[in-house]
Amino acid sequence: GLKLAVIGGGSSYTPELVDGVLRRAGELPVAELWLADIPSGEEKLAVVAALARRMAARAGSAIEVHTTLDRRQALAGAHYVITQLRVGGLAARVSDERIPLKYDVLGQETVGPGGFANALRTVPVVLDICRDIEALCPDAWLINFANPAGLVTEAVLGHSAVKCIGLCNVPINMVMTAAKLLDAVPADVAIDFAGLNHLVWGLAVRLRGEDVTGVILAKLADGAALTMNNIPDLKWDAAFLKNLGLVPSPYHRYYYMTDRLLGEEQAAAAPGGPGTRAEQVQAVEEALFARYRDETLAEKPPELAKRGGAYYSEAAVSLISAIQNDKNETHTVNTRNNGAIAGLPADAVVEINCRVGKGGAVPLPVGPLPPDALSLAQQVKAYERLAIEAAVTGDRAVALAALAANPLVPSADVAGKLLDEILAANREYLPRF
Ligand code: G6P
Ligand code: MN
Ligand code: MN
Repeated sequence: GLKLAVIGGGSSYTPELVDGVLRRAGELPVAELWLADIPSGEEKLAVVAALARRMAARAGSAIEVHTTLDRRQALAGAHYVITQLRVGGLAARVSDERIPLKYDVLGQETVGPGGFANALRTVPVVLDICRDIEALCPDAWLINFANPAGLVTEAVLGHSAVKCIGLCNVPINMVMTAAKLLDAVPADVAIDFAGLNHLVWGLAVRLRGEDVTGVILAKLADGAALTMNNIPDLKWDAAFLKNLGLVPSPYHRYYYMTDRLLGEEQAAAAPGGPGTRAEQVQAVEEALFARYRDETLAEKPPELAKRGGAYYSEAAVSLISAIQNDKNETHTVNTRNNGAIAGLPADAVVEINCRVGKGGAVPLPVGPLPPDALSLAQQVKAYERLAIEAAVTGDRAVALAALAANPLVPSADVAGKLLDEILAANREYLPRF
């Protein structure tokens, strides 16, 4: 049987993953599930593991659920490793979301200066984990969910020998939503995805092979909802969308509706408002863990659907099964571009449809992106690469260049002020600075 190690195993999302593993037990024989976390997460880890064991018992599964505060124990001999950690927890995410708002810049956990701060904290931790993988399970596949997922995956591929695929649930959510809009079953809907993580476009939507991109764009222009729980469902400008000709991801709102979203975020964060997304999620998490502690609960509770992670386990477990069973299926993942998107570097990690089998993910080349889309992807990629360099070196000048290169940061002056605040707020997590 397989050994699966989850780093950040005490996450409230873990029952989602356990549910997926149990559902696919027939094709993916996981014998040991190791949930690793840090000491401050010990109590949550125990709660999540106990729920996982109840879920396994109800499913009649013999899977062993282990917990550890020593991730090396989880990694030793593992076949698959999932990183789903959040360095600094939700408290750090609150600061990522709030600091930029003071400068009238968007505050988001993966995009803009918030995503940058998250990257500075996360890249060194994930690279440390990679050192352990290299030593303890060098043949293992690392499935990285840690955000910003595309950027972190590029750091892993550029700075370690670990076999890593980055994963996000946005593409599968877009397929599920498109299926709903088309009144079809998801299996009949395929989207040609290309772009970057949290900046992925649907180049074409197909229903049983027929191109229905125009139908989807018309529905979006008409106000149909295509978003996720963590992103306000602001409506698209019909003329803009028609000219774009691509299906934007929910996250494209941050780039195409920047001022409208900033207004929403500032209103939410103001006294008397509901708080930033992280602050709202803190409340959801408390309620979730209260449910998890209920010893009669033996399934993932419906409250989990309030989070942005819908279909997370479906994406992860089906991807692992495609590798393990050498399925040569199409999955949308984060991997090296290798020429698939013209105009982005070969070693840049992109989010794109890939053939996935036992050798990993091979991106499927796409036609040229329209110039406006390509140039945005290029600019975000330039930012990401500077951010990786800054995270790895602790070089302040590179960090400043990274922030200034981010399309959501208006100037180098604002970048400098943001950087000072971000470094001060994150001091305990940034030993390299
Ligand atoms: C989506 C994104 C994830 C992100 C999550 C946030 O699932 O793809 O990368 O972490 O939303 O959801 P939350 O409920 O924490 O706001
Ligand atoms: Mn091995
Ligand atoms: Mn994501």
